[in-house]
Amino acid sequence: MTNIQHPISNIQIGVIGAGAMGAGIAQVAATAGHTVLVYDTNQTAIDKAKNNLWTTIKKQVERQKLTKENAKGISARIHYISNLHDLKNCAAVIEAIVENLEVKQKLFVELESIVSSDCILASNTSSLSIASIASACKKSERVIGIHFFNPAPIMPLVEIIPAITTDENVTQSVKKIIDAWGKITVLTKDTPGFIVNRVARSYYGESIRIYEEGMADFATIDWALKTYGGFKMGPFELMDFIGNDINFKVTESVWEQFFYEPRFKPSLTQKRLYEAKLFGRKSGRGYYNYSENTVMPSPKQDDMLGKIIFNRVIAMLINEAVDSFYLQLASIQDIDLAMTKGVNYPKGLLKWADELGLANVLTILENLYAEYGEDRYRPCVLLKRMVKEKKFFYH
Ligand SMILES: NC(=O)c1ccc[n+]([C@@H]2O[C@H](COP(=O)([O-])OP(=O)(O)OC[C@H]3O[C@@H](n4cnc5c(N)ncnc54)[C@H](O)[C@@H]3O)[C@@H](O)[C@H]2O)c1
Repeated sequence: MTNIQHPISNIQIGVIGAGAMGAGIAQVAATAGHTVLVYDTNQTAIDKAKNNLWTTIKKQVERQKLTKENAKGISARIHYISNLHDLKNCAAVIEAIVENLEVKQKLFVELESIVSSDCILASNTSSLSIASIASACKKSERVIGIHFFNPAPIMPLVEIIPAITTDENVTQSVKKIIDAWGKITVLTKDTPGFIVNRVARSYYGESIRIYEEGMADFATIDWALKTYGGFKMGPFELMDFIGNDINFKVTESVWEQFFYEPRFKPSLTQKRLYEAKLFGRKSGRGYYNYSENTVMPSPKQDDMLGKIIFNRVIAMLINEAVDSFYLQLASIQDIDLAMTKGVNYPKGLLKWADELGLANVLTILENLYAEYGEDRYRPCVLLKRMVKEKKFFYH
């Protein structure tokens, strides 16, 4: 089975979908020296991708981050194709089309009839299982998840997700390729949300819950997490930035795929925003109002309240990270890298757990569990064991 030999940059890469992700992935691969063939069914998307690429690399030249020659090289290496058959010599094809299982499966079946038998077929899906995409293929062992973050040229993290059927050589080859592209790769299991979109759910979910209980308003919760946690953006600012349509759908999908696990339960607060099309910045209003001349609400800068809010959210985040490690989703290092490099958390959550003291985190969770009697607050069994055995994640 596939085992890509050096030099990696000589291999041809196919990218399907020229939208936000596909265009970014093509740019990353071309920057690393590959010839990249980009296919999209929509000509408008291709035109937009071409324009955006040129604008982006022109800016980089102006900022002296790229020489004119390099910029020309990147642009010349990307070819927009109108026939899937042109992908026949690619060593790897990365799919970044619409998030729909049937459409993706149909594409993978078609690709298999075109590419060579050892061509790697990868999906950039955020929420579908790699196993389900691979199941449509004759050679499911060549199918793998390569999950970039938006914008792909800027965000350093890439999650690599072998399905249950993926050949180990394919995983190793993909890791080699993406490492050579200068990305930080983490290896994770084919479970809903992979690492980042699973662990990050508590940042939003617990914050909304705190608001719903009337403990604090959006501005105060945002202030608390930035002040006491060092997060660059508060949860409500961040949800408005991502878009409440996307954020709500990811939460709903992770919750459903985890068989309605209460820790991931979506909120009616965000669902109503979604239904009202109050998506956030892009629609002018979300948790906050972004129309001109609107004064942003001020937080209630109460030290004790701020610490209570931070403790509750960080304990839930840490519990999720511990559970991910306990269920062998990824290594300690990769779980921490995923959150610092994928969503810019100020610290890896397992390192943070050591610093805060595992016993303190456990106490917060046990108090919440005792008070609410809800399963969402149950501490991970590994956290309990580690406290009992006085263990740390890092030393
Ligand atoms: N946007 C993000 O933040 C993000 C982050 C990580 C992963 N993803 C995943 O990446 C994938 C693409 O997301 P996006 O945000 O770039 O979407 P997008 O809507 O910006 O782009 C998708 C593109 O795919 C094209 N397309 C649709 N069906 C096609 C087909 N059958 N053949 C060829 N082209 C087709 C569309 O014309 C469109 O240009 C999705 O699976 C999504 O879950 C998105």
